[in-house]
Amino acid sequence: MRGFLSLILLAALLPLGAATPSWAARAEAAVAKLPLTPTPPMGWSSWNKFRCNITEDLIKQSADALISSGMKDAGYTYVNIDDCWMAPQRDANGDLQADPVRFPGGIRALADYVHARGLKLGIYSSAGTKTCQGLPASLGHEEADAGKFAEWEVDLLKYDNCNDGGVPAIERFTTMAEALAATGRPIVYSICEWGANKPWEWAGALGHYWRTTGDIADRWGSMVAIVDQQAGLERFSGPNAWNDPDMLEVGNGGMTEVEYRSHISLWALLNAPLIAGNDLRTMSAATKEMLTNPEVIAIDQDWAGVQGHKISDRGDLEVWAKPLSRGGAAVVLFNRGPVGAEVATTATDLGLKSWTGYRMRDVWTNADTHTRDQVRASVPAHGSRMFVVKPGPPGKVPPAVAADVRTDTEGFVEAGQTFTATVRFSVDGLPPVRDAEVTPAVPEGWSVKATGPTRARVVVPGRPFSARFEVTVPGGAGKGIYGLTSQVTTRGGRQVTGYGSVAIAQAPQGDQWLSDLDALTADVGYGTMGRDTNVGGKPIKIAGVPYPKGLAPHAASEVRYFLDRRCTRFTVAAGIDDGTNRRGSVTFQVLGDDRSELAATGVIRGGEPAVPLDVDVTNVLVLTLVTGIGPDNNNSDHSIWGSPRIVCAV
Ligand code: GLA
Repeated sequence: MRGFLSLILLAALLPLGAATPSWAARAEAAVAKLPLTPTPPMGWSSWNKFRCNITEDLIKQSADALISSGMKDAGYTYVNIDDCWMAPQRDANGDLQADPVRFPGGIRALADYVHARGLKLGIYSSAGTKTCQGLPASLGHEEADAGKFAEWEVDLLKYDNCNDGGVPAIERFTTMAEALAATGRPIVYSICEWGANKPWEWAGALGHYWRTTGDIADRWGSMVAIVDQQAGLERFSGPNAWNDPDMLEVGNGGMTEVEYRSHISLWALLNAPLIAGNDLRTMSAATKEMLTNPEVIAIDQDWAGVQGHKISDRGDLEVWAKPLSRGGAAVVLFNRGPVGAEVATTATDLGLKSWTGYRMRDVWTNADTHTRDQVRASVPAHGSRMFVVKPGPPGKVPPAVAADVRTDTEGFVEAGQTFTATVRFSVDGLPPVRDAEVTPAVPEGWSVKATGPTRARVVVPGRPFSARFEVTVPGGAGKGIYGLTSQVTTRGGRQVTGYGSVAIAQAPQGDQWLSDLDALTADVGYGTMGRDTNVGGKPIKIAGVPYPKGLAPHAASEVRYFLDRRCTRFTVAAGIDDGTNRRGSVTFQVLGDDRSELAATGVIRGGEPAVPLDVDVTNVLVLTLVTGIGPDNNNSDHSIWGSPRIVCAV
């Protein structure tokens, strides 16, 4: 080990001599970083839940909770103090010092506390003149600060990107990599550059993992926007050099349990560092179970040469998969849409070797089933199912089954309407299934009547059983999305659920402002969407121009409108509200059905004039307006769809 260390020291120090070497060469030299994260690091960080409200007691209690909750045993070892641990001024020697009120014992004592419990301590600084919260940071102090972190026996540094002093990112992050190497202490280096300069192309030479995007928020729209940005980055990730889609929000309260399960399932599939961001001291049993599921963690920790990636994408229905090192593949069937639907792939599409059949393990329910090739499940809105699929004989495990609910509508109905719902029950493996009984479920006050048999004696692979029902919506039914979740029960009491739904929505008439219509769904990054006001309830203005009509969804956002194929043209002015004082950066996208891109802007910054879009929306059933957080975090991302005018049939 010592030989290895001095080699690294040499590599780090050499380029500092002679003529100034290029930054690329210096980054190369730092390649000899220690292999400290052969699998994605796991731990906890103070930021997502506590922001600047941190004290040494909180850090100690969180370390204790990692142990008492069983998270340490599940693999979570890093206790990371994020921004705001430092005093507002450096000490008399010019060194960083802990805030004397909130961290009276200092960082070294905290490291001792954490180490005594078999855990590791992480700390935070910024590659800037100040941290993101305006406290002393490390640009120009790299050597001294790295020296302090080593002296305090810190095990991990998260190095942020705020207040960069105009110095290019690769220079700032390389200088700290060299400073850390020069300390001789093994310190995991977490590069928090927000994906602004494609860090996946260079940060692997310097650090152990790097952020690929701006900050996550505890919102569905934010989490999904981050997932979108991971597609295509898989080839840059591997042992000791991981893509980091940001810390977990599981348990922080801004998403449903179904959404959090999608969040951690996808993070595990992406080989993401699993850094919990909730209050460990008070977490619910459901949160603990989500964070500590051993089979989900095993998927995260199994790199097998390639991180998980998207293998298919049909509008809102996505399949993400990754090969596993011991054979087989992990798969997430992901439904990002607002209505339940079946998501399907096959063992062949997962890249598994051809076999007579495959074992499917549901890692959340621990149910084992057998399939000939189909890998499918009905998935609720915003939900996912996660399986490990491996070639193998059926043995004693039951066949995989799936229930699916469809209607003869396009998903939209009107009050008083009668439509047909079909519950299809499929058996994907052997042996055949006996006595399948379909029980439809409709919202209260709706009526449902079978129009054929609801029970099948035997169902075999390739010959699904369909039960048909006539469903009538009551005359007074209001706008909303209504579930048609149905059950199929088979001999022996086995049950499978099919998730379906229909919506009652307001169809546009003639020329209208979108802000005068009710959105079908509106997922926003902060607060609620403003209609004809900004997020703060004040009049909208972009670069001095007032917009009396407009939508104000804070990014990251996704807002859907039912157009009913009645419209031809959508015009809008995309920009950031002047209320941010020229701050914020946002991207805008207009999507048609199946998430096809109809129009998009590049990054628009606060203070810049609005970008006009003129979009052909002929034949679009549902229009989706998406705003992304741009290259930094979502602070001040007050996106505005100004004068959103839709031209429709009268
Ligand atoms: C940036 C980072 C976050 C967090 C904050 C702290 O926004 O991206 O993860 O560390 O700074 O101020």
